[in-house]
Amino acid sequence: MIENLLTRPGRLPLIAPSILSADFAALGDECAHVLGECGADVLHIDVMDGHFVPNVTMGAAVVKSLRKRLPHAFFDVHLMVTDPGQYIAGFAEAGADHFTFHVEPAVDRHAGAGDSPLSRGYDPRAVAERVREAGMSAGLAVNPPTPVEWVEPYLDDFEMFLVMSVNPGFSGQAFIEGVLEKTKWLAGRVGEGQRVEMDGGVSPENAGRVRGAGCDVLVAASAIFGRPRTERAGIVRSLRG
Ligand code: DX5
Ligand code: ZN
Repeated sequence: MIENLLTRPGRLPLIAPSILSADFAALGDECAHVLGECGADVLHIDVMDGHFVPNVTMGAAVVKSLRKRLPHAFFDVHLMVTDPGQYIAGFAEAGADHFTFHVEPAVDRHAGAGDSPLSRGYDPRAVAERVREAGMSAGLAVNPPTPVEWVEPYLDDFEMFLVMSVNPGFSGQAFIEGVLEKTKWLAGRVGEGQRVEMDGGVSPENAGRVRGAGCDVLVAASAIFGRPRTERAGIVRSLRG
């Protein structure tokens, strides 16, 4: 495993604002503020391909620009795409630190568009190895309807496991409480240097339950960037608990 902020955190839990709800016309300032004055730990960058999920967001070019503006920030990139392997080199070269992709397209050949060549599946372990060869740590994500046991064969192969607490595609959706059972399951199985991340609908209202279920990386888009700048430092503090 490579050493990075996820595997060697200075403190836990880590708070990871998702830039999906940021003001894209002021993205550099939004990110600098939330990491600086507000004390958040890592930036969560949601990449969607319009195929695995019904939305398109941003690609490696955004990471490259943010890296220039924030040379020391930690970039936690979350790929909601059917074929993550094709994006590894681009994000590594752009300056990403961590690369999470989903288990569903790997094991479910019909997760994408029928018999599209994009939904032919992949071996998560092999993709994780390529991610590390490219200099990033690797994460494996599960959607709310996906049994968490799908990641069991790969428990030793990832620095982080991401449990989706909304169906991916959009920020601002309601938290699905039942997924906390999955994070409890994971928290009892991961090692010291491995993280459990929760993503979707996380807010100060439910953050205590999320932390209590063993999550040590909390992602939040609308709860942070959907609020006025003057409130964001307080929100980061209450997410951290
Ligand atoms: C959802 C993304 C999340 C999303 C979270 O598809 O993976 O990271 O931005 O947004 P909130 O925190 O508003 O639910
Ligand atoms: Zn995400």
